[in-house]
Amino acid sequence: MTNLEQSKSLLVRAYNLKEGEAKPLYQDWANSYDADLVDSLGYVGPVHVADIADTYCTNEDARILDVGCGTGLVAQRLSQLGYEQIDGLDFSKEMLEVARSKDIYVDLINADLTQTLSINTSVYDLVVSCGTFTHSHVGPEAFDELLRIIRPGGIVCVSINAEIYESNGFYKKLSNLECAGKILIESKVKIQLTVNEPVDGFVVVFKKL
Ligand SMILES: C[S@@+](CC[C@H](N)C(=O)[O-])C[C@H]1O[C@@H](n2cnc3c(N)ncnc32)[C@H](O)[C@@H]1O
Repeated sequence: MTNLEQSKSLLVRAYNLKEGEAKPLYQDWANSYDADLVDSLGYVGPVHVADIADTYCTNEDARILDVGCGTGLVAQRLSQLGYEQIDGLDFSKEMLEVARSKDIYVDLINADLTQTLSINTSVYDLVVSCGTFTHSHVGPEAFDELLRIIRPGGIVCVSINAEIYESNGFYKKLSNLECAGKILIESKVKIQLTVNEPVDGFVVVFKKL
């Protein structure tokens, strides 16, 4: 199997996870994740998310949380853009260990995004995420906790896999939050997450009101 075929098969595995299979997958994948995703599949989603977030964030001292941070690809780009106050959150200890080795995060939090987070209310200015709101990963219910932990006026900038944007309730959740006056949707841009394999996503930016 070529590197590209091997990377594609890992992506297929990631998109077809059953309950309880995500942590073992990322435990196996952590050490070769960057090579498989970035080098073989041409994974550019994290760069897009960070660059778009940067257009909404004028303060390099902003407190940022990268959720489903994995090995730290979004924070790597944010760090290149001058941000230093970045925390990461992921439920895979092995992915967090790779992220820690890059020395770009202030704090790394081992937590599950589908649960209530042990994080104070209104502490972050910006929440970013790439690749986590996707097939058989995290659903739109997690947005409630993300909105709790950012301050009013704070920004959420996340990629959402285009194939599940409507079917998994992301469109409905964001519309309901906006109708309820809790958020303002600032932008929704379609991007190709990987350049060597057609995986489309939306980068959605919304502000907590
Ligand atoms: C495809 S990777 C994306 C990692 C990184 N953001 C990137 O773009 O390379 C998805 C990440 O989400 C994490 N994840 C999946 N479900 C999660 C959950 N319920 N809570 C926290 N992290 C989760 C996985 O451990 C994995 O690191």
